Amino acid sequence: MSQPTIETLRTTMELAYTWDYTSQVRSLRDLYTKSKDLQWDGAKDLPWHLDVDPEGPRFPDAVVPIYGSDIWHRMTRAEQRRTKIEVSSWMLSQFLHGEQGALLATSQLVTCVTTPDAKLYAATQVMDEARHVEVYERYLREKMNLTYPVTPTLKSLLDVILTDGRWDMKYLGMQIMVEGLALAAFGVIRATTDEPLIRELTAAVIRDEARHVAFGVLSLDNVFREMPANELRDREDFVIESSRLMRDRFLAPEVWAKMGLPVEECCAYALECPLMQQFRCMLFSKIVPNLKRLGLLTDRVRPALQALGVLEFEHVDPDLELSLLSEAPPAFADAAE
Ligand SMILES: [Fe+2]
Ligand SMILES: [Fe+2]
Repeated sequence: MSQPTIETLRTTMELAYTWDYTSQVRSLRDLYTKSKDLQWDGAKDLPWHLDVDPEGPRFPDAVVPIYGSDIWHRMTRAEQRRTKIEVSSWMLSQFLHGEQGALLATSQLVTCVTTPDAKLYAATQVMDEARHVEVYERYLREKMNLTYPVTPTLKSLLDVILTDGRWDMKYLGMQIMVEGLALAAFGVIRATTDEPLIRELTAAVIRDEARHVAFGVLSLDNVFREMPANELRDREDFVIESSRLMRDRFLAPEVWAKMGLPVEECCAYALECPLMQQFRCMLFSKIVPNLKRLGLLTDRVRPALQALGVLEFEHVDPDLELSLLSEAPPAFADAAE
């Protein structure tokens, strides 16, 4: 499982100075103001003094992708518990690596976007992502003592987003797809665990991620609707391919390999079982309405998402998401001790 500690990729993109500093996009300037008001400190504002059950955060058995399979039923209760710890650590590790991807992608946005409002807002998102890297890394190291390397499907997606020089592809890949999925996944985590530290951590991250998704939606407004057909085709292909990578992102092959379980059989079960299918649909519940809003749920994209089994929630109102933005800042009652 060893992984080189530093990996480099070559990227090229345009750098944009904006010599006119006056505000040009009011909605992004407002988002920047809101973001400054809602900053928090990952070290001081979360209840790190709380002990976490040595068996890991308490998630229901159903978070294990092979829950309900013959392999699962043949395990002893102790083996099932061990599997759940491994899956929990694997899943949180992928969020950690996704946060690093967001940190890098958003720092690129600071460089390449062409309005002062987007540059200032993106800079606050860079700080948000640094905080997210900080809190997930600390949780995994201090409370679980177990961190997994990045899974290949997530890594491929991050590589594509980070090496594509086009600014709209960075927003589409990161703010709409990766962060849209994270927002839904964090919602599931928060709803299904009663471990207080991960609940508070996740709630605080969700409030930030809702702004990040809004940043993408506001920045891409009308971009795809006005795009020439040949260029739009590239974006459609990207949505289809990244959806496939994200659908396969939760198969956890590294866990099965580590535990000596049949990897292909476990992944095949995770792809087929109705509970996981439902979970994947839920993961796309923020993405699909936003793709529709941006004019990307086209005649090519819709059937592809349907075939992947992730096209529910098409008719959810994406504005409901933006309403999260008006929530009060996190109430860290007795957090700092
Ligand atoms: Fe984040
Ligand atoms: Fe984010």
